[in-house]
Amino acid sequence: MEIFETVAEIRNTVKKWKKNGLTVGLVPTMGYLHEGHASLVKESVRNNDKTVVSVFVNPAQFGPGEDLASYPRDFGRDKAMLEALGADAVFHPSADEIYGGNPLTKVYVEEMSSVLCGKTRPVHFGGVAAVVSKLFNIISPDKAYFGLKDYQQFRIICKMARDLNFDIEIIGMPIVRDKDGLALSSRNVYLKPEEREAALSLNKSLGIAEKMAENGERSAAKIINAVKSAIEAYAAAKIDYVNIVDPENLKDIDTLTGPSALMLAVYVGNARLIDNRIIGS
Ligand code: PAF
Repeated sequence: MEIFETVAEIRNTVKKWKKNGLTVGLVPTMGYLHEGHASLVKESVRNNDKTVVSVFVNPAQFGPGEDLASYPRDFGRDKAMLEALGADAVFHPSADEIYGGNPLTKVYVEEMSSVLCGKTRPVHFGGVAAVVSKLFNIISPDKAYFGLKDYQQFRIICKMARDLNFDIEIIGMPIVRDKDGLALSSRNVYLKPEEREAALSLNKSLGIAEKMAENGERSAAKIINAVKSAIEAYAAAKIDYVNIVDPENLKDIDTLTGPSALMLAVYVGNARLIDNRIIGS
């Protein structure tokens, strides 16, 4: 497995692979890898001749006062994990390598970026779209892999790829959970042991909603109220939002008429946790 720090080097390597007719999978990450990331890398290794994993804590997707400085990092551990998973290359650029030269171009997927997490994190999805479009242009993968825990991000990237004609298949991979049901996230390290129970309310509330929909409940408001009550039962959990949206365009829906995305974000101590489930299918 090779480590590349510059755009020119990774580009040349990928160009050589492609000249030899090899297919390339890309797994974009911000490092501090866990089993969720591992599932993306395994899928890419299975389905492509070569797999590139980017490890880059992207400053552009953190707003003022967010956790850019404290975001967990352990590149040594990430490298060992990626080597064991069979990745072929790691792209680990500096912020200057990616954003040097005073870039003036913005990439912003309107409507979908200002709702849900975009309300509390107004710069976040612009930063994600900017770095992902750069990675797509630098690596030119055939396929790119994203976790469905970040469902809004996944949908925004699908829309961006379609709008900008990226010739890349975007693949969403199922949420990976700890044994107790907590969705894996690099930010789970912010949780104190005594906050775990409150953090589990997210997955529990999704289960309640799923059952209600299975039993024929079609009112989004009723399901949202039940989800909110299940979370608010824990004093340490503070809801940011609970919404039920169209799974493609992320617009709120009142009545479930087909598969619908239940989306939530909840603060537990220093962690802002997100989770989601497709219900009503
Ligand atoms: O999901 C993430 O880890 C990041 O948002 C991504 C897609 C790597 C862009 O920085």
